[in-house]
Amino acid sequence: MIKKIYEKINNILSTYIFGNPNRFNYNIFNFFYRTIICKNNKKDEKINQFVKNGYFKGSKASKEFIDLIQKNIINKNDVDEKTTELLNQNKIENKKKNISFNVDPSLRNKIIEFIKTDFKDDLLGLESYYNNKISIAEIQVKRNLPLENKEYYNRYTRTKEFEIYSNYYHVDAYVNTHIKMFINLQDVSEEDGPLHIYSKSSTRKFIKENKYKNRHNYLCKELNGLYVNSGMVGETLFANTTECLHRAGIPKENHHRDILFISFIAIPEKFDDNRSYLDYYDKFDQNGVWSHNKNNVVFKTKPEKFKDTFNLFKKYYVSKMI
Ligand SMILES: [Fe+2]
Repeated sequence: MIKKIYEKINNILSTYIFGNPNRFNYNIFNFFYRTIICKNNKKDEKINQFVKNGYFKGSKASKEFIDLIQKNIINKNDVDEKTTELLNQNKIENKKKNISFNVDPSLRNKIIEFIKTDFKDDLLGLESYYNNKISIAEIQVKRNLPLENKEYYNRYTRTKEFEIYSNYYHVDAYVNTHIKMFINLQDVSEEDGPLHIYSKSSTRKFIKENKYKNRHNYLCKELNGLYVNSGMVGETLFANTTECLHRAGIPKENHHRDILFISFIAIPEKFDDNRSYLDYYDKFDQNGVWSHNKNNVVFKTKPEKFKDTFNLFKKYYVSKMI
């Protein structure tokens, strides 16, 4: 009961003061991280967009990188056994309409190398903005399929049970040193259910105008300022999903969306040299980074109590590069 009241107050304060529904202590962390630790190089146009809107279009993935994933992961249909069985039977329930592809360990280093080279400039830009080294924390290859009962998704109130692939507007409950990247593994049109995202200021507007209480309760009316991440194969988007409302679009009949999700986190540790630490957590906890559900790495940016949040901030402060 007390926990529920605490969470409600936490949520109301957050939306009033910070204009997004993330936890209050996370928003305080974000404010101080931005003010005290971040270094904003005004010459970097992409970082300017990231600061202003909360997202930017990254460099395009190389053809070799996309080919590697398409040929070795998606076309092999290397999904978990149960899903393969259901796909073969042509009986996929709603909850299986979000397919996670397994990534064979023999491909993992190659994928990390491509991320290092293809997005080098974007990642260096983010690293100098966050003023801490950045590492990959999670990698997922996924396919979203169409859902039944389309009308259901236009209701004000919807239950957790029918949220199949984060298709209700939400922010990710982490502190803002957690950054998401989305890589199109196919040409993505509006019909394929692209990511929908609002900038930080539009997020505030959405909450007000659509009577947003939480991801299960809001008016399903899109507003001006919505960014729909459709685009060609290989196109990418970096986003601060901890402060910008976003959701997965729902593909139309006979469409689907194949996507590569990567989470990066700023590492709350001090390093003496200036090399890339992108594979830091892959070396440290490989099964976590590539796992579909047991990833302890991302939890580093999900402190539990106020005290933990403060301690995490202190670690980042001590480890900052400049
Ligand atoms: Fe999300």
